[in-house]
Amino acid sequence: MQSSQTLQVKSLTLANNQTSRWHSFNSQDEINQATVKRILQAANDAIKQHGSFLMVLAGGSTPKSVYQLLVKEQADWGNWHIYYNDDRCLPVDHPERNSKMAREAWLNHVAIPQQQIHDIPAELGNIEGAKAYAKILAGVRTFDMVILGLGEDGHTASLFPNQNVDNSADAVPVFNSPKPPADRITISQNRLNDTHEVIFIVTGAGKQEAVDHWRKGVAIPATLIAPSCGVDVYCFGVEL
Ligand code: 6PG
Repeated sequence: MQSSQTLQVKSLTLANNQTSRWHSFNSQDEINQATVKRILQAANDAIKQHGSFLMVLAGGSTPKSVYQLLVKEQADWGNWHIYYNDDRCLPVDHPERNSKMAREAWLNHVAIPQQQIHDIPAELGNIEGAKAYAKILAGVRTFDMVILGLGEDGHTASLFPNQNVDNSADAVPVFNSPKPPADRITISQNRLNDTHEVIFIVTGAGKQEAVDHWRKGVAIPATLIAPSCGVDVYCFGVEL
């Protein structure tokens, strides 16, 4: 039964066979609470089935308030394994690192074992760091949940318009990113699609054009994320 919080869920199937389910929320708190609830449900299910929960985090600013809410939750943290869908090639403690944001907002405050938190070694540079992360991802089973953001130009992770990444590897270097810094590392589209669930968190009027393009079938990079389970797009502050 849909909660009163989810005003509407519209499903969409695009030419590239991406099925997206669009959830519209009334407030930042509602979208955050719904995301936390879904993450915890996915974790319980995965731990019951596999004894572990493999979650891939989004970077940027949007997910920070969700991560902060997770600090207050009771969960079987000892069985959580954390990955990142991308990071920026900056020093480990640089304030713009996605791993620093997630650690300060959440991971430093819960009992997920350090050896189960897999930062992207982006301080090594995009080529060496991508090789190192691909080794970390080798043999890792299908992810249980991938959380993604959406850029104003329709990018997601560090998959940007008019850029082809090498999909043969699980983690790949990105050059000349239009969103600074230029050098990044991203999990490839193919590896991101190897997941049981994807939630995009999209908030704010700045994302309206990207959402409009997406829903009209424009091939923005977010449409590259087309796992068999489809994707759920949680929206607040954008018109559907
Ligand atoms: C990054 C992210 C990127 C982000 C979007 C949305 O490194 O910046 O991986 O894909 O999710 O750009 O960013 P905001 O949440 O800050 O709008």
